[in-house]
Amino acid sequence: MIWHPVWKLKQAGIEEIAIVTGTEHMGDVVGSLGSGKDFGCRFTYKVQDEAGGISQALALAENFASSDRLCVILGDNIFQDSLETEVAAYRSQGQGARIMLKPVEDPHRFGVAEVSGGKVVGIEEKPKHPKSNLSVTGIYFYDGQVFDIIRQQKPSGRGEMEITDVNNAYIERGQMTFGTFQGWWSDAGTYPSLARANELALKEAMPFPDIARKI
Ligand code: G1P
Repeated sequence: MIWHPVWKLKQAGIEEIAIVTGTEHMGDVVGSLGSGKDFGCRFTYKVQDEAGGISQALALAENFASSDRLCVILGDNIFQDSLETEVAAYRSQGQGARIMLKPVEDPHRFGVAEVSGGKVVGIEEKPKHPKSNLSVTGIYFYDGQVFDIIRQQKPSGRGEMEITDVNNAYIERGQMTFGTFQGWWSDAGTYPSLARANELALKEAMPFPDIARKI
């Protein structure tokens, strides 16, 4: 599954990739991906010592980013659409952030976006009573402001540094745009969704056959 985001980034022309993972998985991840040479990419690895949330993980990429804009993909998200047009849309937006939305049947499992007048006006993390069926997927675009926003953040009720708080900070600044996935999208946050994500990942024809044979 870790190859999937690498492929999506490469397909969109992004070859400088920072991979953040916990101590328990880092060995396997490095063993599977290596330096990036076989993928035509350059990988930088960062260790997240404890499971403190997505924005805590993202903060580890600050030196890597060095004020450049970023595309962030959560490693347990897989999706059908290419990111090429989204990367182009984000490049032309100048500053701020962009998120990818997808209508789902079980929005209470995700960050849920409220859209009004063609804009995202707020996001609620795993709401009991979702205001829409639009899940915020784990594909985000940020500019250099993101690291200052994270520094001002406090952990949520579940003790995590929530990416939803970061996204809401961009919404408050009037600097958030969004795209919508047309094709399928899945995370792997429950056993059924993990099974579905694996099934979908296997169906994908990722262009790394030589590497697949080595593993
Ligand atoms: C995270 C985000 C959530 C988003 C989801 C997408 O949830 O917090 O807003 O909808 O990823 O996969 P988590 O996987 O941490 O529960």
